[in-house]
Amino acid sequence: MSSQRAGSPLRVGILGAGNIARLHSVGWNEFSQNAEIAAYSDVDTVRARYMSDTHTGGTAKTYDSIDAIVADPEIDVIDVCLPHHLHVDAVLKAAQAGKAILCEKPLCTNLSDAAKIRETIASTGVVFMGAHNNLFTPSLLEARRLISGGFIGRPFMYRTIEVFQSRSFDPWSKEASATGGGQRGWRADLRTSGGGELLDTGYHSTYRLLSLASGDRPVEVTGFLSRFLQSHLPTEDTGHVFIRFESGVVGEILTSWALDVVGARQFEIEGEFGAIAGSATSLSHQLYRWPEPATRTYPAPATFTLEIGHFIEVLKNGATNAAPIDDTIRTLQVIKGAYLSAKLGATVTLPEDPAGVPVARETAVSTPYSVQVPDEVLG
Ligand SMILES: NC(=O)c1ccc[n+]([C@@H]2O[C@H](COP(=O)([O-])OP(=O)(O)OC[C@H]3O[C@@H](n4cnc5c(N)ncnc54)[C@H](O)[C@@H]3O)[C@@H](O)[C@H]2O)c1
Repeated sequence: MSSQRAGSPLRVGILGAGNIARLHSVGWNEFSQNAEIAAYSDVDTVRARYMSDTHTGGTAKTYDSIDAIVADPEIDVIDVCLPHHLHVDAVLKAAQAGKAILCEKPLCTNLSDAAKIRETIASTGVVFMGAHNNLFTPSLLEARRLISGGFIGRPFMYRTIEVFQSRSFDPWSKEASATGGGQRGWRADLRTSGGGELLDTGYHSTYRLLSLASGDRPVEVTGFLSRFLQSHLPTEDTGHVFIRFESGVVGEILTSWALDVVGARQFEIEGEFGAIAGSATSLSHQLYRWPEPATRTYPAPATFTLEIGHFIEVLKNGATNAAPIDDTIRTLQVIKGAYLSAKLGATVTLPEDPAGVPVARETAVSTPYSVQVPDEVLG
C-alpha cells in the first residue's frame, strides 16, 4: 500500500460489480473518514457504472478488466468480488502491483494456486485478508470467548451450519428462478465455480468451524455430498463433513442450498461442563444439569460492514488480521479434503502445511479420544 497516503482515506478499487460488491460498497461507505471507493471494474461496464452512480454518486472511476484496475496507481486496496475462477489472477496481479487485498471466498479453486498466492503475498509484503465476514458475528465471538475462558471445560465437539434453501439467487439472471432454479450462471459451471455448494457457501461453515477450534489442526476429513434440490448443478448442493482435530475434538459441518434448519442455528459446541449454541442473533449457554439455557440476543449484524471496518483497522492501525492467508488456505484444504473423501468413499488425511494436498488415509490418526473398534462389535 502506498505509504505516502498513510494518513489519508484508503482508495479502494472494487473488482467485480455484482451481488456482493453491492454489500461491500455499503460497508466501505460506512467508513468514509478512512476509506473511499475510487473505482469499480467489471467486464460488464454498465454494472460498474451503475455501482459508481449508486454508491459514489458517479465519482468512482470505472474499468473493464482486472489489469486496468490494478494498474491504477491511485488505488491502495483491491477488493476482489469476482467469480471463483478469477480470484487467483486478481490476487496475484493486485499483490504484484503492491495493493492491499480483501478477497471474497473462496481464496481460489485449488491448493496449488493457493500456494502461489501465499508465495506472492510473502514476497511482495502486501496485506491480504480473506473476506470471512461471518467471523464478525457477535454471537460467534462471544462463543469463542466462552470456550477460551474455560466456561464449558474441555471442548468435545463443534458443529457449524450454513444453510439456505435457494430458490432464487442471481439478481442479474434472466432465467426463471421461481421453479426451484437459482444458483445458475457461473455457479452452475465447474470451470467458473470450481466446485459446488461446499466450496461456495460451505466456505463460511468451514472457516467458522476452524475459528471455534482456534488453532487446533484438522487432521482427518470425511465428506458426504448430496444433490437434493438443485438438480441443474454439476455437483453437490449439500455437504456433510466430519473432521477430526489433532486434539481429538470432532467437528461437523452441515452446509446446503437445499435445506433450512429450525431457528437458523449456525453453530454448537459441546464440552465437558456444558454446551453453547448460536445463530446470527442469539447465543445460548447451558451448563450440565441446568434446567434451561441462558440466552442472549443480538441485533442482526451487518457482517460485511464489520469485516470491512476490521480490515481498515488492520491496514491503518496494525490490528491482528482475523483471516490471514494461512487461515483461508486451511479452509480450502478442509474443503478439498471433503471432496476427495466423498470421491474415494473414505476418510482422508490432511497434511500439516495448509497448502498440502489431502491424501487417502493409510492409518487412522490416533488422538486422546480415538477408539479402537473391538472385533466383538463387528459382524
Ligand atoms: N460472503 C458472502 O456471503 C458471499 C455471498 C455471495 C457471493 N460471495 C462471493 O462473492 C464473489 C462474487 O459473487 P457474486 O454473487 O457477487 O457474483 P455476481 O455474478 O453477482 O458478480 C460477479 C461480477 O463479476 C463480473 N466479472 C466477471 N468476469 C470478470 C472479469 N474478468 N473482470 C471483471 N469483472 C468480471 C461479472 O460481470 C459480475 O458482475 C464470489 O467469490 C462469491 O462466492 C460471497
